[in-house]
Amino acid sequence: MAAFNRFLVGIVIVFLAYSPSSSALHFLLIHGSGHGAWCWYKLATLLEQKGHNVTALDLAYSGRNQVPLERVHTFDEYHKPLSEYMKSLSPEDKVVLVGHSYGGYGVSWVMERFPEKVLGGVFASAFMVGPNFTLEDTNKLLPRPDQLDDSFVIGDPIRIVLIGPHFAATLLYQNSPPEDLKLANYSLRLTQFFYGDVVNRQIRVTKERYGSVPRAYVIDLEDKLITPEAQRLMIARTPPQVVRQIRGADHMVQFSKPREFANNLIEIGGLFESFDQEGKPYAL
Ligand SMILES: *[C@@H]1O[C@H](CO)[C@@H](O)[C@H](O)[C@H]1NC(C)=O
Ligand SMILES: *[C@@H]1O[C@H](CO)[C@@H](O)[C@H](O)[C@H]1NC(C)=O
Ligand SMILES: *[C@@H]1O[C@H](CO)[C@@H](O)[C@H](O)[C@H]1NC(C)=O
Repeated sequence: MAAFNRFLVGIVIVFLAYSPSSSALHFLLIHGSGHGAWCWYKLATLLEQKGHNVTALDLAYSGRNQVPLERVHTFDEYHKPLSEYMKSLSPEDKVVLVGHSYGGYGVSWVMERFPEKVLGGVFASAFMVGPNFTLEDTNKLLPRPDQLDDSFVIGDPIRIVLIGPHFAATLLYQNSPPEDLKLANYSLRLTQFFYGDVVNRQIRVTKERYGSVPRAYVIDLEDKLITPEAQRLMIARTPPQVVRQIRGADHMVQFSKPREFANNLIEIGGLFESFDQEGKPYAL
């Protein structure tokens, strides 16, 4: 019996020593349209409780960011808080990027510009471009103005949106706790969608830079906005190294399934670390 117990303890020690998620990761969380760092409060808490570092930023004219809307016309302007943060990182710090929804563009944008500071990029129900699947292609997956229900919308295709309460309750947060829907009601802001040559160029990615960093896609299986079919289309066009799916997750996986999401992210981060150590190439 004692020998068996020692055997069990040995197994646990071996598991802890070699478990891919045993070291601390640094997650950089990138919110989606209209949202802000606030939408990560549950996920950030769970990741920090497991010993990981978390940074959640407000993009321009989002959350508590004070830049006025008229000064945000392009991805470079919208993503300025990301570039400032990436430039401030110490050379040995590598982040795991996590982008939600429109925040997927932030992940691609950072990966293309700072590949050496990124351990990997995770797209959660997020727009994911590739060298052969551009912003023009992913923009076709955006909702039409008439699909946005009671939201305030300018433009067709949509240019400016304030997410409406009924739209949020039925198509974004339908599986999330009512408190989180209330938080969204108090916190959402106007948001912009970008089109045209200038922003198409800003969001272009290359095999050499973007393709040098591993990617993971987390499919939210009950997402009514970016449906699982749309998510799988992006996966097929630019296959990531890891694909996970979360049952019961609405579009707001960080609210509807925070524990499952956190556990998946920690496992994915561990895989990114092992890829990094093995020095695998990531041919796109
Ligand atoms: C995580 O945060 C701690 C405390 O702020 C810091 O000492 C450590 O360097 C950070 N690690 C990473 C990987 O960012
Ligand atoms: C790029 O995508 C198009 C379809 O959109 C496809 O016909 C073409 O073969 C793809 N090229 C590469 C290099 O994957
Ligand atoms: C919050 O809810 C109120 C009452 O339903 C509504 O008038 C308002 O537009 C909502 N705000 C947002 C941002 O959804």
